[in-house]
Amino acid sequence: MNAAAIILAAGAGTRMKSRKPKVAHEILGKPLVRWVVDAAHAAGLERVVAVVGHCRDQVEPLLVDAETVVQEEQLGTAHAVNMTRDAVLGKADSVVVLTGDSPLVTPETIAKLVSLREGRGAGVVVLTMIADDPTGYGRIVRDQDGQVAAIVEQKDCTPEQAAITECNSGFYCFDTELLFDALGEVSTDNAQGEYYLTDVLAIARSKGREVLGLVAEDGAECLGVNSRRQLAEATRLLQARINARHMDAGVTLWDPASTFIGPDVQIEQDVEILPQSYLLGSTKVATGCVIGPNSRLTDTCVGANCVIDETVAKEAVIDEDVECGPRAYLRPATHMCKGSKAGTHVEIKKSTIGEGSKVPHLSYIGDCTMGSGVNIGAGSITCNYDGKAKWPTVIEDDVFVGSDTMMVAPVTLGRHCLVAAGSVVTKDASPESLVLGRARQVEKEGWNEGK
Ligand code: UD1
Ligand code: CA
Repeated sequence: MNAAAIILAAGAGTRMKSRKPKVAHEILGKPLVRWVVDAAHAAGLERVVAVVGHCRDQVEPLLVDAETVVQEEQLGTAHAVNMTRDAVLGKADSVVVLTGDSPLVTPETIAKLVSLREGRGAGVVVLTMIADDPTGYGRIVRDQDGQVAAIVEQKDCTPEQAAITECNSGFYCFDTELLFDALGEVSTDNAQGEYYLTDVLAIARSKGREVLGLVAEDGAECLGVNSRRQLAEATRLLQARINARHMDAGVTLWDPASTFIGPDVQIEQDVEILPQSYLLGSTKVATGCVIGPNSRLTDTCVGANCVIDETVAKEAVIDEDVECGPRAYLRPATHMCKGSKAGTHVEIKKSTIGEGSKVPHLSYIGDCTMGSGVNIGAGSITCNYDGKAKWPTVIEDDVFVGSDTMMVAPVTLGRHCLVAAGSVVTKDASPESLVLGRARQVEKEGWNEGK
């Protein structure tokens, strides 16, 4: 397959009513335009060229794996495609045009457009859909032999054309030379005064080339996001598509409707996900885990057989047999080693919790390296910040920290030492020692009698 993709992403998207360009809005943590770029790459299209313009400082950083060309003024879809002439003409036999606001397009459909065009030697293949409500879409006008004679935009339709329910998805595969040749003939003689890419189809016919309309098997794939309502609709459809893929692969979802899994998340079989859970970014979950309810994992790696109950984790690494929550918060660079625990109302940041070590209740552990077999008593915290700098705490193997201990960093607790409850530890503790860092209890006998 020698095909390039052109992704149109220069428009403002005024109907979104947003300061952000439309294609930068996210679905399941991924910007709209990235869904389209990833589908083009997955279809095997090596060269992906995006047309940017409006707020391009915000769009270009999303397109590191695509070439970009700039359309300074948005004069219409044909004008936008014409900007890619130097990047594409003479470099690919076929060109697939996609819009950056259509995140449901699949690699399979893209590949099908190309193989149909190349197999038939057709001038153009356009993907069409039968819409319940065709409002806003270009209408597909077919002739007696079933070929597409023209696409007529809503605003240019006669009443008879407006009644047509077969619509233009905005996805096409063109013969590259024909496309750039025909673009020279497109005018602005229409209701919107724009250069319409859709005019290329009638021009192709006038040049004696075949123009085919491929009806999409699933019309939902063609959904374009022009408003916040359509953004929510696309989110729902993509959520359902991703959830179905994981269930088919052996993942249990108690409630798919309240489970949100990002497109790049990997989940092994026999994972159980309870309601109201969010797995986003590059998160990976190994077999045998129970996630949720109410867990939110972003860019987090979870080993086999963990229980992650009501936990928020970001950029954390969790090894196998770990227990988190309910109500644990694991912040970036947290590493929970095999068999460790972060229990109720526990926050851990940039720390390693060694094998089998437990932080069961009401603790803050930050900038800490903890060995194995450690137990942290309820309410204990590392005081890692002096207002200016962050300092490390080292807790060696088999240390027992009594409840309500303050570990004032920098500080090291030596192997197998025991810190008495209520201590404020300001100096290093040697291995095997008992550390008491609290005020002595004073008792005044009978002092409260008769008061
Ligand atoms: C377009 C099609 C319509 C089709 C619909 C499907 C044309 C003339 N019409 O209409 O037949 O049913 O898509 O969703 O093509 N863009 C640019 N530069 C421009 C203009 C647009 O980059 O100068 C980009 C937009 O950012 C957007 C895409 O092209 O991603 C489509 O433009 P839009 O204005 O949304 O076209 P529609 O009116 O939806
Ligand atoms: Ca559109």
